Amino acid sequence: MKATQYVAHKPGPDGLIHYSTEENAIWQTLVERQRDHLQGRACREYIDGMARLNLPNTHIPQLEEINQVLVPATGWQVSRVPALISFDHFFELLASQRFPVATFIRTREELDYLQEPDIFHEIFGHCPLLTNPAFARFTHTYGQLGLNASPQDRVFLARLYWFTVEFGLLNTPDGRRIYGGGILSSPGETLYAFESSKPEFRRFELLDVLRTPYRIDIMQPIYYVLDSIDELFQIAEMDIMGKIQEAKTLGLFAPTFPPKEKQAS
Ligand SMILES: [Fe+2]
Repeated sequence: MKATQYVAHKPGPDGLIHYSTEENAIWQTLVERQRDHLQGRACREYIDGMARLNLPNTHIPQLEEINQVLVPATGWQVSRVPALISFDHFFELLASQRFPVATFIRTREELDYLQEPDIFHEIFGHCPLLTNPAFARFTHTYGQLGLNASPQDRVFLARLYWFTVEFGLLNTPDGRRIYGGGILSSPGETLYAFESSKPEFRRFELLDVLRTPYRIDIMQPIYYVLDSIDELFQIAEMDIMGKIQEAKTLGLFAPTFPPKEKQAS
């Protein structure tokens, strides 16, 4: 695991996590800014989930409040974790329908980009879709597969997660819409995925997705697009591990992005 400057909060004796005034103010800045960007860009299922969650604007919500909505909707819940967790822990949680949420929020210096997923990314980006049965089912299946997968196979699974749960798009009758939490929690990428002519939009094909390399620290050069969120039900039924073996045999596509520059030590 990599090092992080962030430390997740633990609940006090009253069972609640007490965030500072500045941390709550950062949440408010992020929520208000991103709500505007998502008009006409987020998918209907996300907007419906957001309405059910009824997230506060002015302060970071408690995880229990999120669970009161998620559990009756799909059986999922959020689970408090440290700022970084192992792959084993990550897959264990998903396999038991618990979505990991690290209870820290980014600093103002990292308002637009940070590598570690913080509570804004997890709750604002992912939790609305966890009220959706197709998204919930897919994420559960993904966790079950990952739990039993080898480290090599987990690298392929990570690409599937990346191009769906994090950076997935839908083609809808109203136009392109976002369901990936990595985009939904990023103002810059939300605009880029719509207004820039740079990204390439490919129809989702499981084998292609498994063979597509990505970088986590740049705007995505490629997005994979589903026709509806319900396609995630079908993908969950596919022989994903079999496709991974096929992808291994065929090898990865050539990257469409420049290599990451090595940082001087
Ligand atoms: Fe995420």
